Amino acid sequence: MKEVYKSLKECRICGSKNLYKYLDLGKTPLANHLIELKNADKKEDAFPLEVLYCKNCSLSQLSIVVEPEILFSYYPYRSSVSKSFREHCAEMAAKAAEIIEMNENGLAVDIASNDGCLLQEFKKRNFKTIGVEPAKNLAKIAESNGIETINRFWDSEAAKSISAKYGKAKIIAATNVFAHVDDLNEFMEGVKILLDNSGFFIVEVPYFHDLMANNEFDTIYHEHLSYFLVKPLQQLYKKHNFAIAGIEKYPIHGGTIRVYASKSPKASLSTGRSANEFLDFERKEKMYMIETYQKLESNAKKIKKKLVETLIKLNKDNKKIAAYGASAKGNTLLNYCGIGSSIVEFIVDDTPEKQNHLAPGSRIKIVDSGFIEKEKPDYLLLLAWNFAKEIMKKTENFRNNGGKYIIPIPDVRIIQ
Ligand code: TMP
Repeated sequence: MKEVYKSLKECRICGSKNLYKYLDLGKTPLANHLIELKNADKKEDAFPLEVLYCKNCSLSQLSIVVEPEILFSYYPYRSSVSKSFREHCAEMAAKAAEIIEMNENGLAVDIASNDGCLLQEFKKRNFKTIGVEPAKNLAKIAESNGIETINRFWDSEAAKSISAKYGKAKIIAATNVFAHVDDLNEFMEGVKILLDNSGFFIVEVPYFHDLMANNEFDTIYHEHLSYFLVKPLQQLYKKHNFAIAGIEKYPIHGGTIRVYASKSPKASLSTGRSANEFLDFERKEKMYMIETYQKLESNAKKIKKKLVETLIKLNKDNKKIAAYGASAKGNTLLNYCGIGSSIVEFIVDDTPEKQNHLAPGSRIKIVDSGFIEKEKPDYLLLLAWNFAKEIMKKTENFRNNGGKYIIPIPDVRIIQ
């Protein structure tokens, strides 16, 4: 039988063994492994959640790698639930169409294409689209929405078979998946095989500088194996003869960088900033010094203390508290803070796959948004704080009736 997880032996980008632990969030269950109500009595496994810093290339990475089949063969997260993310995808496809010399039906491939949210936008712009998605449930949804999707993990074999059948891709997109990948070298080999010489490889990853600056420690969970700065990314690309042509910064998901890479060393885009500008910024921000990272654990502890004290006080004052967004990061936060259903009565989420399940660890029930009207909580803890604006707009009624929001990150605050 395959091991459930393995320990990280060396840095996945540069191979260095100079790895230093600076954050320990304890043992937590897998953040997207929601529990069916019928299994409420079953115990779940918890795994160490620790972050190491590579002194050579500055990549932060988890100390363990959970078997990807366990994490990604069924996936309850649907990209298209958030309107802000759908708009973000539309902007990305529009920009991609602008930067490539688009022939009739240029091929756009999305790696970890989820429910086809991004490819819908490429399709609108006359790209031929192919999704590659390991989660069977998501591949099925995408197919039913007219997005051709290959149900498998990305690797060089997937690249070869797509290339043989459809030719080279003008665009290969990988949004919010790079951090999930253990073997980044094999991933890049696949991209090299499939990408057209004049095409672009577009990666979006949460920017680790922003995680540090805003105490987003809750975005650390077992799916996120790596936490990227531009420096290690550039090192990876150089190793595979890719050059960074431009980098843009977006607020989505608490701070994201979109990195355009090309096989051509001379490719440069007028959009965004250069890799060198980012490297200077990271150096100035002391992102290449382990000392910078030591404050993350103490900041996480401060947030935990303040959040737990706030919730316990409200509880004592007989205030009813619910949460919004059964996000993976919400589960890191709840479990790290030891918050359960005696404090937060239920979690609202608009994803049908998540409703009528229990959140891992905390065992708080996930329900649809109708419960806000039915149960009339006094406070909503925004676990998906990255979509605070969108969620607050959706819950205007709750707010107009005196409901308040608790935003946990970057610092605990209450909004009337
Ligand atoms: P994420 O922060 O990892 O993208 O997760 C956000 C979660 O919040 C996800 O489970 C979907 C949920 N959500 C809603 O239920 N309604 C909404 O309007 C938004 C924006 C998110």
